[in-house]
Amino acid sequence: MKRIGLITSGGDAPGMNACIRAITKYCLNIGIVPIGFFDGYQGIIENRCLELGFTDVNNIIHQGGTILGTARSEEFRTAQGRSKAIGNLLSNKIDALICIGGDGTFAGANVLSEEMNIPVIGIPGTIDNDISGTDHSIGYDTALNTVIDAIDKIRDTASSHHRIFFVEVMGRNAGFIALNSAIASGAESVLIPEELTDINALAKDLKEQNKGKRGSIVIVAEGDDAGGAIEIMKKVEPLMEGYSLRSSILGHIQRGGRPSAFDRLLATRMGVFAVDQLLIGKSNIVIGSNGEDLIISSIDSAVKNHSVPDLSKLKLLSKLRTNGKV
Ligand code: F6P
Repeated sequence: MKRIGLITSGGDAPGMNACIRAITKYCLNIGIVPIGFFDGYQGIIENRCLELGFTDVNNIIHQGGTILGTARSEEFRTAQGRSKAIGNLLSNKIDALICIGGDGTFAGANVLSEEMNIPVIGIPGTIDNDISGTDHSIGYDTALNTVIDAIDKIRDTASSHHRIFFVEVMGRNAGFIALNSAIASGAESVLIPEELTDINALAKDLKEQNKGKRGSIVIVAEGDDAGGAIEIMKKVEPLMEGYSLRSSILGHIQRGGRPSAFDRLLATRMGVFAVDQLLIGKSNIVIGSNGEDLIISSIDSAVKNHSVPDLSKLKLLSKLRTNGKV
């Protein structure tokens, strides 16, 4: 194991730099050359890479984004694209590849490993937190804190204007960000892809919950079956005469910002753990966290399965309803 390749791929996530830093510094300290490829698999196809040194990763642990850049490579989905990538991995004498990203990243790594027989290790890095085999993905905690900070600000103006706000959060088809930010921000309601949305029931519930309040917050996961925040607000509007409704789509602010301490710790630990797994001959695995422990699972299962939020938390929310009581 002399030369390890490294990419960040898919949607970027705060903490990716902390992971790149940990892998690079640990490799250099044990005599392994870390080679970073730029912009995910596209950088491997185009042979855009850099032998990483200590100076490349100094002072990045606190920076959001990824110094390697990331992308979703359509070309890598083609056999021709992958064959170019394989040629470049061979010409750079890459002995193993560490891929930081989400399930799409791991799917690509899995195919590459089959076609080239190169050891690959996945590290979960996505704000969606929907990777099976881990209770946390790098970037999720930071995104959650960004969201509750935004919701706290929206609640200020909702209260000033006696408004009900529909706030849309990211998560693609998963409701982790929505469900947990709803609890952490004291939202009156939350709509997630994992539960069907009933517009009539939502309107009734909001009227009850808003009684005696100066404003209310509804958090909408972007993948909800009834649509995004604007669409749902429009569906509810005719049923809520006399109420002032507004919507706010948080968007890509959830992907940036300085990684939280939690994410820096997770990313650092996972990066070093991934290199250690390669050193003991492991491959085609995804690193995961299980509470304080780091674990491994097959890359196959990470590609085939998704993790879903703990829906019992919806009961927790219902236990804390106000229903006009003062
Ligand atoms: O997968 C991370 C994510 O932020 C999703 O939550 C979101 O739906 C998607 O990426 C947005 O993709 P893009 O950055 O290409 O617009």
